[in-house]
Amino acid sequence: MKKRIGILTSGGDCPGLNAVIRAVVNHATLTRDWEVVGILYGIQGLLERKFIELKPHGLDLRGIDPLLNAGGTILGSLNKVDTDARAEEVISGYRDLGLDALIATGGDGSLAILHKLAQKGGWNPIGVPKTIDNDVAFTDRAVGFDTAVNTIVDALYRLTFTAASHDRVMVVEVMGRQAGHLALHAGIAGGADCILLPEIPYSIEKVCQKIVELRDRWNRQFAIVVVAEGAKTTRGESRAYTNPLGEVRLRGIGQYVADEISRCSGKTIEVRVTVLGHVQRGGIPSASDRLLATVFGKTAVDLVAAENYGQMVAWQNGRVTSVPLQEVVMNSPRSVNPQDDLVETARAIGIYVGDVGEVKV
Ligand code: F6P
Repeated sequence: MKKRIGILTSGGDCPGLNAVIRAVVNHATLTRDWEVVGILYGIQGLLERKFIELKPHGLDLRGIDPLLNAGGTILGSLNKVDTDARAEEVISGYRDLGLDALIATGGDGSLAILHKLAQKGGWNPIGVPKTIDNDVAFTDRAVGFDTAVNTIVDALYRLTFTAASHDRVMVVEVMGRQAGHLALHAGIAGGADCILLPEIPYSIEKVCQKIVELRDRWNRQFAIVVVAEGAKTTRGESRAYTNPLGEVRLRGIGQYVADEISRCSGKTIEVRVTVLGHVQRGGIPSASDRLLATVFGKTAVDLVAAENYGQMVAWQNGRVTSVPLQEVVMNSPRSVNPQDDLVETARAIGIYVGDVGEVKV
């Protein structure tokens, strides 16, 4: 049966979203001869009935399809809609667009909103996990994570040389909210000496000990400290601020850690801070993210064809699968397991990853 499906991108953007859109449009139109509607600015587009008809090759530049490798999202994204207060308007937006199903890319927050609205409004949703934080439950990978890890690794590579030239400690603050996947993966891959995560409290004294040991025992005069924006000390200290809109944002832990290292060493260690910020959300999607986005987009369309709604596509043990949205929402965000193989591996090769024995998830 011919269908008309909607696609939207919700929450923070990340590299690979356009590749999901491309896969959905191509598979739905070329294989199934369905219509695909791109809803602008996520749920806000349903509220305001803002959409565009999407066709394969619709954005070709002399035959080159930019969707595969362009960062961001051509549909725009927003996560500020008051969906509780305006639920009825959003729900009728879905009906007015004449949709048979809605494919939505989102992180844990957006997927929870989508699930709630779908239940209230009798929609047919399919979720596609995307977030550089990689904290959506039941999927080993979300779209955008791999590219962000590569961006951080590239920054660590650059910082290593300037750190070594000046005998400095470089503290690098990375995103991830309350999850440390980004910091852990990029820290190991990028050669960090200390990796500070939200899930495993750290002590500044141990960070200093590590840096001094590198210097005095191994004659290594510089060090790289990767700190996740949500990291906490064993005393529970973290850093956040409230912006003029009243939203709490994690920011400032890098400077805090740098100041503490300086204090703890009696100002004998010279420290610099780099906050990578939204650079981590930009850039050309990695090959791995493009592949994941393409498999996810194709599988989302297959789920619609099978009328197997209320599911999120997922990547588990090297294969694509699907998981009920309800389960995902109940178990997200997914934290770093302090007993994870990567944590053990990092410690085994001499990286300080918070305090063993004082685990807090
Ligand atoms: O969830 C993705 C993320 O990039 C987090 O890592 C970060 O804390 C947050 O979004 C930043 O949000 P915003 O784009 O609203 O500043």
